[in-house]
Amino acid sequence: MGIWKIRGGNRLYGDTYIQGAKNAVLPVLSGTLVSGCVTKLTNVPQLRDVDNTLKILSCLGCKVEQSEHTVIVDSREARFAPIPKELMAQMRSSVLFLGAMLARFGTAEVSMPGGCMLGPRPVDLHLKALETLGAELILSEESIACRSSGLRGCRIVFPTPSVGATENAMLAACGAVGVTVIENAAKEPEIVDLQEYLKALGADISGAGTDVIVMRGMRPVFYVEHEIVPDRIAAATVLCAAAACGGDVTVRRTVPAHIGPVTDALERMGCAVTKGADFIRLVSDGRLVSPGQIETQPYPGFPTDAQPLLLAACLRAEGETTFRETIFSGRLRHTRQLQKLGGSIQVDDHTAVVTGVAELNGAAVQATDLRGGAALVIAGLAARGETLLVDSDHITRGYERLDECLRALGGDVTYTD
Ligand code: EPZ
Repeated sequence: MGIWKIRGGNRLYGDTYIQGAKNAVLPVLSGTLVSGCVTKLTNVPQLRDVDNTLKILSCLGCKVEQSEHTVIVDSREARFAPIPKELMAQMRSSVLFLGAMLARFGTAEVSMPGGCMLGPRPVDLHLKALETLGAELILSEESIACRSSGLRGCRIVFPTPSVGATENAMLAACGAVGVTVIENAAKEPEIVDLQEYLKALGADISGAGTDVIVMRGMRPVFYVEHEIVPDRIAAATVLCAAAACGGDVTVRRTVPAHIGPVTDALERMGCAVTKGADFIRLVSDGRLVSPGQIETQPYPGFPTDAQPLLLAACLRAEGETTFRETIFSGRLRHTRQLQKLGGSIQVDDHTAVVTGVAELNGAAVQATDLRGGAALVIAGLAARGETLLVDSDHITRGYERLDECLRALGGDVTYTD
């Protein structure tokens, strides 16, 4: 449990370097299991989710080392073991160990994964993909076990794009004999990063970033180095904070193309956005106008993870902004906390209508999930007076020292664990 103390009113100025992507490093860490090898990962963010994933790898017999932003995993001595429930329950991405363990051991057992409460978070698409590859499922109230006497290449067609299910299918297919074709695959940059890692591991895999991913087989190598892609949502977080407070901020070590819909919306709000090969600069006088309707979509549409962040920046934007959340049914819970700061938000089912107000006022609020918590930090920075944000470690799960980053840009923010 931690407390954020935020005093609003400061503009933000300066440069900041963006962390490696949480949602890329977690699947890649599961991938270090699919064949016995030594993997060196760089640009690894220092997050609680990474720590927990490394603990899971250790439970499975891997040797792990972490220093600063580099992690080394030696999975040559890995062996099957059930993963402790308390580790599984910490995050959603632990479900990816199903595919990785199946590929390596031919058997897998995990308890139900945890993660942000964004409404129901089923794993039916994951399980269907693993069954199609030839796994036999044994399900109980609190655990999922898979057995396979040999995974076989096949055609997997997802009814809707799912990031995690696509990643689980890619990981399991590493252990399949024959060609696996994944159709209606999710296209997020984190999927591409996982493909790049698996290719370095010796997988003949292609198509990530498009609807169709093809895995033709594995010729494992024994030493791999891979740099984790920058965290596009961490970049969006800082840019939305700069828009909300006003100022002149440059986020570096980032990929502008990964958050085009977010920077487009910020430009429509009146911010001046300049993009380079690996940076995005945003200048704002803090007086914003509504970007119009925002509808979350699978990549390359507007990212659901940035919905709470842009919504916070819209609280003082002149006019009315309609947010339609189409990915997660429970991803508007942060609006209740934002209303405590003075936000004028009407929520109906999957839609939130924000009417810009002249001022927000600091208040005591509570983080409901990772991005909802970040949205409250953004709103607190743009509010008058002090905001006290109680955070049961949601934000630290996904952001590496966000308080230090914002303080270095001039934000009056302190976080006490
Ligand atoms: C990943 O979650 C990310 N998490 C999420 O980021 C991100 O919001 C989401 O992808 C975007 O789609 C990680 O990568 C660890 P999905 P994931 O499967 O894989 C439904 C953050 O803040 N679905 O793409 O769980 C699901 O309910 C987190 O960093 C099924 O119905 O998302 C949702 O409505 C939050 N059955 C939709 O698909 C399944 O088996 C998309 O979910 C799987 C998913």
